[in-house]
Amino acid sequence: MAEKYVHLIVTRQDTPDSTPYNEEFKVPYRPGMNVISALMEVQRNPVNAQGQKTKPVVWESNCLEEVCGACSMVINGKPRQACSALIDKLEQPIRIAPMTTFPVQRDLSVDRSRMFDALKRVKAWIPIDGTYDLGPGPRMAEVDRQWAYELSKCMTCGVCLEACPNVNSKNPFIGPFAISQVRLFNEHPTGKMNKHERLEALMAEGGIGECGNSQNCVQSCPKGIPLTTSIAHMNRETTKHAIKTFFFS
Ligand code: SF4
Ligand code: FES
Repeated sequence: MAEKYVHLIVTRQDTPDSTPYNEEFKVPYRPGMNVISALMEVQRNPVNAQGQKTKPVVWESNCLEEVCGACSMVINGKPRQACSALIDKLEQPIRIAPMTTFPVQRDLSVDRSRMFDALKRVKAWIPIDGTYDLGPGPRMAEVDRQWAYELSKCMTCGVCLEACPNVNSKNPFIGPFAISQVRLFNEHPTGKMNKHERLEALMAEGGIGECGNSQNCVQSCPKGIPLTTSIAHMNRETTKHAIKTFFFS
């Protein structure tokens, strides 16, 4: 019986500035394979479909269970995580390309710095003095903890930025994920202390005002984060903050 194989068409790029090109691979099939294991086959035996020796494909991955967000790429036209993309569920040939919103470093590896910069801009953390034992933090009502947990699942994967028509290299928009993180930290009993700084950051250039309400983000998020609910909530919060600042400062 002929050997079963997985047919991949990978968009490759040797350096951040070089021209991308496609290379095809046919790797041995095993039941239960995902896109990462298919790419690992290429890495193990870097020979393309024409039988020529080539450079191993470069990509990023870490957790292999859709938690770290590092392996995001465009698979058959859809931005998603390669570790949870099962070969049996994909139409072949499987086209794999890097996300277009982020600068390519090499092959499928992209630079997601704009996401981490966005988190810094909106102060998506709770500043505490860790030099001594602060004791237990304030308790949250179970109903609040539940929705906060949903927002905390964001893995900075970049898929919502890739899906958003307003995120591109010419626009400093922080993206839906960062707006949702402001909601998370502003509603936290301790995080509330820095609420106003985060609201000011959201109202600055590249903030919530850049959202065009396309609603692609909420449909694309692999963690099912209610991004449009967060954006609507933060729109109300920034409006209230602007009115208060106008009248009372
Ligand atoms: S909000 Fe969802 S799609 Fe966007 S970065 Fe977080 S996990 Fe990824
Ligand atoms: S390797 Fe972590 S999300 Fe895929």
